[in-house]
Amino acid sequence: MMITTPTAIDSLHIRYLEQIKAIDSTENGQDVRQGLQQDAKTLPPRYFYDEKGSLLFEDICNLPEYYPTRTEAGILQEYALDIASITGNCELVELGSGSSSKTRFLLNAYQTLYSSLNYVPIDVSGEILTASAKQLLSDYSTLKVRGLVGTYEQALAQLTPSSLSARIILFLGSTLGNFCPQQSDRFLAQIINTLQPGDYFLLGIDLQKPKTILEAAYNDSQGVTAAFNLNMLAHLNWRFRGNFDLNNFVHRAIYNEQEARIEMYLDCLRSHQVRLESLDLTVEFRQGESILTEISRKFNLDTLTQNLQQRGLSLLSTQTDPREWFGVILCRK
Ligand code: AVI
Repeated sequence: MMITTPTAIDSLHIRYLEQIKAIDSTENGQDVRQGLQQDAKTLPPRYFYDEKGSLLFEDICNLPEYYPTRTEAGILQEYALDIASITGNCELVELGSGSSSKTRFLLNAYQTLYSSLNYVPIDVSGEILTASAKQLLSDYSTLKVRGLVGTYEQALAQLTPSSLSARIILFLGSTLGNFCPQQSDRFLAQIINTLQPGDYFLLGIDLQKPKTILEAAYNDSQGVTAAFNLNMLAHLNWRFRGNFDLNNFVHRAIYNEQEARIEMYLDCLRSHQVRLESLDLTVEFRQGESILTEISRKFNLDTLTQNLQQRGLSLLSTQTDPREWFGVILCRK
């Protein structure tokens, strides 16, 4: 049972950042228009995450084939105390906090070593952020939560100074892999710009490994990833008054070895037209054409750590699981 004490309520502040309210307006969706009007069609992965999509993603994280979540959790469980003792007491800022389940290993470690616990979860979903913050507050007696609801970029731009002498920004789950190299460069630059000298950055990344393991992780036998991929079209239907027929598309994920990335597609089974009323957009689909919905880059640990060092960060530790499938990198500005 969850008990919300007055102290817990005092300890919870959630701020909705500007612009997020505009997400429902019809002027939004320009990214959909642009992606669907290209010769090689694409859709932005942010449209995976409506309420159903977020639940499907939670299911993906528990699939036997989808190793990243549990592998990263194992690394954090093993090294959280080391990380907390290297950084000293600091404010934990998490980009894309979701259910904050892996963060608990870090919160446990900071609570064990230090008297206060300050956590700033950042997520686009206010509901998920609030629910997980309340649960955390009932479980950690010294915790203070100052959540920010918005995109990573908005939140980094609007972070107020830390109440502690240092801060650690957490970017877990290999979400960096969903950015193309240019987006990733811009994003890392924004993070490093937000950090003060002496602040820390903890990054979780999925590493390169044999194609069979990677393709199994994104083509699971229960079809959850397929449902997650197709749900993007259902999301576009309700958000933009569209008429995508999900039966006209099938999920496909392949590992592109040259680019070291998973590519997730929706393949079109028959030629047809789709209308998105709110965008006043009609799109022609040909049988056999594909929409690229996501890339998931797989990293080389040495290349990535060199890149972080070239950006002015000092490398403090890199941890992997015994199979070297996933890496967790701790750096300081
Ligand atoms: C959120 N992101 C890191 C996941 C990944 O593995 O790239 C998204 C995902 N797509 C399909 N399965 C999981």
